[in-house]
Amino acid sequence: MRVVISIGAASGVIYGIKVLEKLKSEKYLIITDMAKGIIKEETDYSLNYIESLANKYYDDHDFDSPLASGGFQYDVFAVLPASMDLIAKFACGISDTLTTRAFQVALKEKRKIILFFRETPLSSIHLENLKRLSDLGIVIMPASPGFYFRPRTLDELIDTMAYKIMDEIGEKQEHKIWGKN
Ligand SMILES: Cc1cc2nc3c(=O)[nH]c(=O)nc-3n(C[C@H](O)[C@H](O)[C@H](O)COP(=O)(O)O)c2cc1C
Repeated sequence: MRVVISIGAASGVIYGIKVLEKLKSEKYLIITDMAKGIIKEETDYSLNYIESLANKYYDDHDFDSPLASGGFQYDVFAVLPASMDLIAKFACGISDTLTTRAFQVALKEKRKIILFFRETPLSSIHLENLKRLSDLGIVIMPASPGFYFRPRTLDELIDTMAYKIMDEIGEKQEHKIWGKN
């Protein structure tokens, strides 16, 4: 599988990093300018390390990237996390960066799209934008980890969400799920 991941400038960039670390599929990565600041603020990971987790990294202003065109074949486009700024741009068709352009391309090419957000509480504008995107068939995932397996560490808590995202991407890896087998 080929997966395109963009890390947007919302709290919770660690989820995107954890998915990049775990995912075995071919990975294409974009990091928005503002997200680079949040990565520094919230984690100890270097940008070089995060970029090295992908098969190919593209700058968010690189419109020469194949991700800016419908000709490039891949399976899933995921924004981990998506800021409400990106959600608003996605919902109204703006494509002023590689992330927003790649989104519009993924949409018109009818690729699977996953938008993972952290913002809370949500305004009516946020909710309307999310509803509009959901109505287009996009998977909308709030950063809301389950507690039923009693995570003991922050890593375990983050992993519950990372595996859930990977289930949505379609790369199943062994992890605890609810229910008796
Ligand atoms: C430390 C920090 C945390 C932020 N967290 C969020 C957030 O969780 N959700 C959100 O929608 N915006 C958040 N923002 C605001 C976005 O970063 C801001 O709207 C930015 O323009 C979005 O950039 P992007 O379009 O590259 O994602 C945060 C900003 C900072 C500085």
